[in-house]
Amino acid sequence: MNNFTYHNPTKLIFGEDTLTELPKLLNGKGKNILLVYGGGSIKQNGLYDNVLEQLKAMDAHVVELSGVEPNPRLTTVRKGIELVHAHGIDFILAVGGGSTIDCTKAIAVGAKSDADIWDIITKKKVAKGALPFGTVLTLAATGSEMNAGSVITNWQTNEKVGWGSPYSYPTFSILDPKHTFSVPKNQTIYGMVDIMSHALEHYFHHETTPLQDRMVEGILKTVVETAPRLLEDLENYEHRETILYAGTMALNGMVSMGYHGDWATHNLEHAVSAIHDIPHGGGLAILFPHWMEHVLDANIDRFKQLGLRVFDLEQGTESDRDFALRAIQTLRDFWTSIGAPSTLADYDIDASSIEDMADRTVQLSESFGSFKSLNRDDAVAIYKASL
Ligand code: NZQ
Ligand code: ZN
Repeated sequence: MNNFTYHNPTKLIFGEDTLTELPKLLNGKGKNILLVYGGGSIKQNGLYDNVLEQLKAMDAHVVELSGVEPNPRLTTVRKGIELVHAHGIDFILAVGGGSTIDCTKAIAVGAKSDADIWDIITKKKVAKGALPFGTVLTLAATGSEMNAGSVITNWQTNEKVGWGSPYSYPTFSILDPKHTFSVPKNQTIYGMVDIMSHALEHYFHHETTPLQDRMVEGILKTVVETAPRLLEDLENYEHRETILYAGTMALNGMVSMGYHGDWATHNLEHAVSAIHDIPHGGGLAILFPHWMEHVLDANIDRFKQLGLRVFDLEQGTESDRDFALRAIQTLRDFWTSIGAPSTLADYDIDASSIEDMADRTVQLSESFGSFKSLNRDDAVAIYKASL
C-alpha cells in the first residue's frame, strides 16, 4: 500500500424521512439560500415542495437556480455565481443527482475565488475557498454527495473536465432512498453502471491491497445481485437503499485508501459526452469492457480474480488469458442483461468522431490511466472497438 491520509468532512444523513433534519443542519450556517436543482423531476415527485416547507420553517430567504443540465454546463455555473453575488447568498443547497451537485460545487468555489472558475476547473488556477453547501441526493450514481469531485462541460469548446478541491466537499448530504423511487428505469441502470464503474476504476492497480479488494468486490457483487431485483420493482425501499449506499461507498474514498485507481475509462467517457452529450453511465457500459480487453495483459490475474470472486466463475481447462476474457465478457453480458447499451452505435455515434474524441482524451495530459498508461493511439483503438 502507499502511505495515505484520509479525511472526509461530509456529514452523511441516511434513511427514511431524514429531510426533516434540514433545518437543524442549516442552523447557524445561513439564511440566504441558493436552491439549485435540475430540469424539474423534484417538482414532479413532490420533493421541491417538501424542501421549501423545511426552509420556510426556518425563515430562510430562498433564491432558485433551476435547469441544471445532465452533464452540467459552465454557463449554468456562471449563472449560479452571479446569483450568489447579486443576492448575498451564504449557503447553497443542491437538490438532485450528480449533475446538480457537481454544478453546485463549481458555483460554491467560483463564488469565493478571484480566479475564473473555468481556470480552476482546468487546473490553471487553484481554488482558495468555497461557500458552504449541502445536498439532498435524488439519484444513486456518482458519489458526488460525499466526495470533492465535480465534472463540468464547457459546451463552447466541447470539453468535459473533472476537477476537485479540498473545499468542494458538501457540508452535509441527506440520502433518503424514497427520494430515488421516481428515478426512471434507464437512469437507474446508468446509475448502477456508474457505481460499478467506480468500483472497477479502483480495482485495477498493482498494489497489494487484500482488504480493499474485498471491499470493492463487495460493492460489485452487491450491485450485481440487487440490480435485476430493483429493476423489477423500482419502488422497493430495500433495493433502493442498497444501491444508494453502494453509490456513496463506491466513491467516497473509503474503499480506495492506500492505492490509486486507474480512471482511464472515465477519461474516455468524458470525451464522448463532451461531444455527444450522452448519459455518463451509458458511455461507461460501452467503453469499460473494451478498455479491459485492451489492457488485459498488464495483469491477467486481476481479471481472473474479478471473474472468480465477483461473478463466481470457475476456470475449466481454458488458459488464464481465455478465462480472464470470459470474466470481461460476463461483465459485458451482465450490463446488457439489465438494459445498458453496448456499442457507440446505440447512441448513433460512428467512426467520424473518433479522432475528435481521441484528441479530447489527451487535452490536459498526453497520457492517461495508471493500471496501464495509455496515449491517443490507445484511445483511438478503444473507440474503434466500441463502435
Ligand atoms: O434534471 P432533473 O429533472 O432532476 O432529472 C434528472 C436527469 O434528467 C433525473 N433525475 C435525478 N433524480 C431523479 C430524476 N428523475 C426522477 N426522479 C429522481 N429522483 O436523472 C437525470 C440524470 O441526472 P444527473 O444528475 O445528470 O445524473 P447523475 O447523478 O448520473 O450525474 C451525472 C453527472 O455526474 C458526473 C457525470 O460525468 C455526469 O456529468 N460524474 C460526477 C462524479 C463526481 N462528482 O464524483 C463522478 C462520476 O464518475 C461522474 O463523472
Ligand atoms: Zn462515473
